[in-house]
Amino acid sequence: MARIISVITQKGGVGKTTTVNALAAALNKHGRRVLCIDMDPQSNLSFSLKAETEDSYTIYDAMRKDVSTLDCIQRSPTADIIPSDILLNALEMEYTGINREFLLKEALESVKNLYDYILIDSPPSLGILTANVLSATRYVILPTLPDIFSLQGLTKVHETIEHTKKACNPRLEIAGILINRYNKHFKLHKEAYGTAKLLADKFEIPVFNTVIRNCKALSEAHSLQCDITKYKKSAKGIKDFQLLTQELMDRGIF
Ligand SMILES: Nc1ncnc2c1ncn2[C@@H]1O[C@H](COP(=O)(O)OP(=O)(O)O)[C@@H](O)[C@H]1O
Ligand SMILES: [Mg+2]
Repeated sequence: MARIISVITQKGGVGKTTTVNALAAALNKHGRRVLCIDMDPQSNLSFSLKAETEDSYTIYDAMRKDVSTLDCIQRSPTADIIPSDILLNALEMEYTGINREFLLKEALESVKNLYDYILIDSPPSLGILTANVLSATRYVILPTLPDIFSLQGLTKVHETIEHTKKACNPRLEIAGILINRYNKHFKLHKEAYGTAKLLADKFEIPVFNTVIRNCKALSEAHSLQCDITKYKKSAKGIKDFQLLTQELMDRGIF
C-alpha cells in the first residue's frame, strides 16, 4: 500500500515541483515504485517528467470519475505520473457541495496497491485543490526559501494543515520544513534558517537538517526534462537531494 507524501505551500517558485521531481528520481534509484500526481493546473511537473498533456487523461478526469485512475497513469523513466492540465482549475466551480475535498483521495484508492510511494505536487494556493491534496496525504513537506516573506507564509500553511487534520484527516503529519536555495555565505539566509527553527519549535514540527543549496543544475535538469539524479551527479543541489532522501529514510518517512 503506497504511502502518500505531498509537497505544499501557497507560494510559487519555492521548489515544490523540484522537490517532488528530485525525490521521485531518488526513490526510483532505490528501486521503489513511485507514482507522481501533478495537482498544479500549470502542469510543471507533467512537463519535467515528459508527460503528454494534450490528448491524455489527467488527474482532473480521475477526480471527476470520468475514467478509471489507472487509465490516467503515464510511464516516464523517472516515475509514473498522472499529469494535470489547465482544466483542473474548473474543479473549484464544478464542485461546491460537501465532501468535495475527498475527490483526490477517492481517485487514488484504486491505484494505491500498485506503488510504494505516491508523491503529490501542489498548486501555489490553499484552495480546494490543496485541500484535496491534504485530505489524501499522510506526510507533508513544506518547502520555503530562506527569506522573510516565504517564512511568513508558513504560519498560514500550518493553520490550514491543522484545520484539515481536525476536519478530515487526523493522520496527516508534517514531515518537516525544507529550506531551499540556501547559501551559507549569505547572512540573511543564516538568519532565515534561525527564524525557521523558531517557528518550527513553536509549531512543534521539524526543520530538515538538510538544506538544498542554490544550484543551476537543478533548474537545468528541470527545464531539459532530465532525471535529476542522472544529470550532473556532482552538482551540489543534486547531492543535497540525495542527503534529503537519506534524512527522510532516517526519520521513517520513506
Ligand atoms: N535549489 C535550487 N537552485 C536553483 N534553482 C532552483 C532551486 N530550486 C528550484 N529552482 C528553480 O526555481 C524555479 C521554481 O522552482 P519550482 O520547483 O518550479 O517551484 P514551485 O513548484 O514551488 O513553483 C524553477 O525554475 C526551478 O528550476
Ligand atoms: Mg510547481
